[in-house]
Amino acid sequence: MIHASTALPTHVLNEQAFTPTDTIEISHVLSQIALAGKIIASDLRHAGMSDVLGSTGKTNIQGEEVQKLDERANTTFVNVFEANEVVRTVVSEEMEKPYVVRGARRPGKYALYLDPLDGSSNIDVDAPLGSIFSVHRLSETSDGESEQDLLKPGVDQVAAGYLLYGPSTLLVYTCGKGVHLFTLDPEIGEFLLTAQNVQAPARGKLYSVNEGNYQKWSKGVQQYIDFVKESDVASDRPYSSRYSGCFAADVHRVLLKGGLYLYPGEMDKPEGKLRLMYEAAPLTFVMEQAGGGGSTGVESLQSIQPTRLHQRVPVFIGSHENVQQAQQFVQA
Ligand code: AHG
Ligand code: MN
Ligand code: MN
Repeated sequence: MIHASTALPTHVLNEQAFTPTDTIEISHVLSQIALAGKIIASDLRHAGMSDVLGSTGKTNIQGEEVQKLDERANTTFVNVFEANEVVRTVVSEEMEKPYVVRGARRPGKYALYLDPLDGSSNIDVDAPLGSIFSVHRLSETSDGESEQDLLKPGVDQVAAGYLLYGPSTLLVYTCGKGVHLFTLDPEIGEFLLTAQNVQAPARGKLYSVNEGNYQKWSKGVQQYIDFVKESDVASDRPYSSRYSGCFAADVHRVLLKGGLYLYPGEMDKPEGKLRLMYEAAPLTFVMEQAGGGGSTGVESLQSIQPTRLHQRVPVFIGSHENVQQAQQFVQA
């Protein structure tokens, strides 16, 4: 029986991952993210009853159809951070340009990178959704707006994590001192600590991929997927396939149960689908802090210097041994 009674801001303060001032500021950022998460979770719970399902009819910077709830989730985050003095800039999947917070008296020193609603194809079918976040410190000379100042490699992240809107609403975060999991208690409206220093199993027998893309992959990726489906008692194969279409949900399963999530590049789309700065890098930070890893198949996702805010990247993320093994196939 878990007696959850540590609230998120207290936990971040107690972690003391940074200097006292920075710790207070990051605690504030995470509290505001949690607030946005509560609003989005509430929106999602009522979605079927309030005509917010379906498309806006617009496409975003990625050329993807924007769902009404994508737009609402983005607006929720922007509104929550509008008057804060800690986050200066919000970069989001749903906004072509960085958004500089206008309502603050003093400009904040952090930039927040968001996938406000992850897994949008699940909206209309009541399947899991997430929000993914990454926090970087801006340089002192940055105006908070120029793209060059905002192109940060994953290794420089100050904090990262995700919200997961499933049967419960979860918030998982790292500040570089382990991975901590909070569950929203709907009665009191607080995220309470339910697992501390989460460790991913060193290896696992789950693989999570959109296998409909098999014909588009390189030989190496195809051979890896053939390999995980072979029968071999000694290595516990075949692995089990699990894929929800929500990156945060699929990676969360791999974090807890062990295995590999992959969204490889394709022959005519070598960069793959997922976005580096607000999908791949934050979840790699979480996975690394839990003892696992994240790779493009060739190099660590954390060491990539982005050249564009909305850059895409091939993703192999999960248990340490599974990532290593997939890399061997990709590089063979
Ligand atoms: P988003 O809804 O933010 O655009 O992200 C969708 C992503 C990710 O959540 C998921 O793993 C993947 O796209 C699913 O893509 P496929 O439908 O191609 O499998
Ligand atoms: Mn996404
Ligand atoms: Mn999204």
